Amino acid sequence: MKIRVLGAGAGGGFPQWNCNCHNCKRVRSGAMRAKRRTQSSIAVSSDGNHWLLFNASPDIRTQLEAFPDVHPKHGIRDSGIKAILLIDSQIDHTTGLLMLRESTLPLEIYCTEMVRQDLSTGFPLFGMLEHYCKVNHHPVPVDGSGFSIPLIDDLRIHTHALKSKAPPYSPHRHDPHPGDNIGVVIEQVSTGQKLYYAPGLGEIEPHVAQAMQDADCVLVDGTFWRHDEMSQAGICDKLALDMGHLPQSGEGGMIEFLNTAKARRKILIHINNTNPILDEDSPERMTLDEAGIEVSFDGMEINL
Ligand code: MLT
Ligand code: MN
Ligand code: ZN
Repeated sequence: MKIRVLGAGAGGGFPQWNCNCHNCKRVRSGAMRAKRRTQSSIAVSSDGNHWLLFNASPDIRTQLEAFPDVHPKHGIRDSGIKAILLIDSQIDHTTGLLMLRESTLPLEIYCTEMVRQDLSTGFPLFGMLEHYCKVNHHPVPVDGSGFSIPLIDDLRIHTHALKSKAPPYSPHRHDPHPGDNIGVVIEQVSTGQKLYYAPGLGEIEPHVAQAMQDADCVLVDGTFWRHDEMSQAGICDKLALDMGHLPQSGEGGMIEFLNTAKARRKILIHINNTNPILDEDSPERMTLDEAGIEVSFDGMEINL
């Protein structure tokens, strides 16, 4: 299985256009060893030609341009992206759909019923896109059951609900439903290799722990180092968990859990620009290195 990290940053990217935090300031001035990152998305394939895109970030145009495997190869209009699976309906994961409006083939979009509703009401991308190209919506399960996708059928996809919140614009923002956010197991049928992908993970419920234990590689929520990172940076009072993200450090944090996981590769994604792990010389980054936990970056390729 081939996995390409198209964007490893959280909403806003790194640096964020209006942010003057310790990290954003230093990456702009060159005062820190760190890579810039676009917003959260990956692509997965078993043959290197037919790709499943996870999330469509606002930075998708640059991300696809930087990735030759999906460039057009046959005829006047073509792409290696055969389908799109949405993890949630957040702006950083869906806005890029608008940039795919030139598609001559229908956009094959896999998402939960809750995400479909959000993208038909609060952020009506589906209705807007219909004026440019056809959209085929395929509902995905929230109970962990598996399905496959035409043209990418060596990959078996299992989707399960995660505890989270719908986006601020959603009509059910204050009324959480299973399927507002999902975690995904991607299994390559021909090799049995498994990836677990969850860029937004607030709580490691038993079914999540099980899926992570069974995976050869986990690619999970790396948004915040600390619970109070946003308030420490003087940005806002929201805690990591209020935003549906489990911080890496501290008791019950992501590192503690990953230390018990058997996966060959443990990788963080969806890293917020305030997170000290972006600084490759920081003590927090050293802690991850010692634990064998990697920090993904734009253009990273993972072969399983
Ligand atoms: C999140 O996952 O919390 C987002 O990155 C927020 C956003 O995109 O505004
Ligand atoms: Mn996000
Ligand atoms: Zn910043």
